[in-house]
Amino acid sequence: MAPVKAILFATLASAGLVAADGLNARAQAAGKKYFGTEISTQVLGDANANNIAKNSQDFGQYTCENEMNFNYANADKIVAQAQANGQLMRCHALVWHSQVPSWVTNGKFDNATLISIMKNHIANVVGHYKGKCYAWDVVNEALNEDGSYRTSGSIWGSTIGPAFIPIAFAAAATADPAAKLYYNDYNCDRPGSKATGAQNLIKMVKSYGAPIHGFGMQGHMTTGQVGAASQYVTNMQAFANLGVEVAYTELDIATPSSNPNFAQQATDYATIVSACKQVSACVGITTWGFTDKYTWISNSAPLIWDTSLQKKAAYNTILNTWGSSGTGTTSTSTAPAATTTSASGGGPGGCTAAHWAQCGGSGYSGCKTCEAPYTCKYSNDWYSQCL
Ligand SMILES: *[C@@H]1O[C@H](CO)[C@@H](O)[C@H](O)[C@H]1NC(C)=O
Repeated sequence: MAPVKAILFATLASAGLVAADGLNARAQAAGKKYFGTEISTQVLGDANANNIAKNSQDFGQYTCENEMNFNYANADKIVAQAQANGQLMRCHALVWHSQVPSWVTNGKFDNATLISIMKNHIANVVGHYKGKCYAWDVVNEALNEDGSYRTSGSIWGSTIGPAFIPIAFAAAATADPAAKLYYNDYNCDRPGSKATGAQNLIKMVKSYGAPIHGFGMQGHMTTGQVGAASQYVTNMQAFANLGVEVAYTELDIATPSSNPNFAQQATDYATIVSACKQVSACVGITTWGFTDKYTWISNSAPLIWDTSLQKKAAYNTILNTWGSSGTGTTSTSTAPAATTTSASGGGPGGCTAAHWAQCGGSGYSGCKTCEAPYTCKYSNDWYSQCL
């Protein structure tokens, strides 16, 4: 009888008559926007893993792993897959002290020049994905552990000072007025000096008159050290009181792969889901990958599917914590429609682009001639630069 049942189920499912269910379906039934995952092109190239990622009942949202930069090829593939499956994009990350190209860190730029470089980057990257991102992580990890602004090791903080943060938010708002603009950081999951620093940062951005709509808690945690949901609820509420939404943006809960404790890990995932469920300002949860086959943490098994792509104990505790699957409608995530980039070519006649500025690339419509003595050098299909 099993095959008949399976065929009947498949037919009913394709007709949309079977209750939708999964991590995302349950999150949406609980009033959230999404349950999502970080995804890389490595996953897109692994058909079995990618089939899990494509299931919008489990994942209503994707984040690209550090692939949204001036070379758009990889991230474009991820955005296309999200759009094909009706999944939202959280876009990540515009201004970070890490992974800055060496021409920027070694350029010895003055304040005004560095600001223009940063604004140019934001205008281009946000412009490229305009209309396709539910949210942008505009600034990532700008705080020290004591809640003060990071200057050491940050070209942005050391040259521009904290003002780079509101300037970045204002530039992102200009480039895509519809996207939710987030500050994103780690070790801000519980009340403490860094979380307080993040609240001060949000107030500071607002004091400059720049928009900020969300706070992303990265949520890199350790099995057995998560504790009670109440501390996470209190923390999120403190951010919500400032008028921003919150989300877990990079959740994973480490346990050693040599001696894992998947039962405790399942309890710890449930704790975070329970906390988000209790706070209306918490719009969703994104895990930093979904299978232990692809995790950034060495010798660890921090995710919801194991290395053989089988569901672990955490899967069911997350489902049960979100609660029942609701009315059984199929997923209705509302990814904004793709916008076509303006085909208007050519900048104003006779203008010149400054040293280091962009001077060409697909979708670029500014000045294409460089000021003397610089020449326009091809970097990739989307970006040429005056060098
Ligand atoms: C850099 O310029 C910005 C914008 O004028 C200003 O707000 C900021 O304080 C300046 N930073 C420094 C270190 O002078």
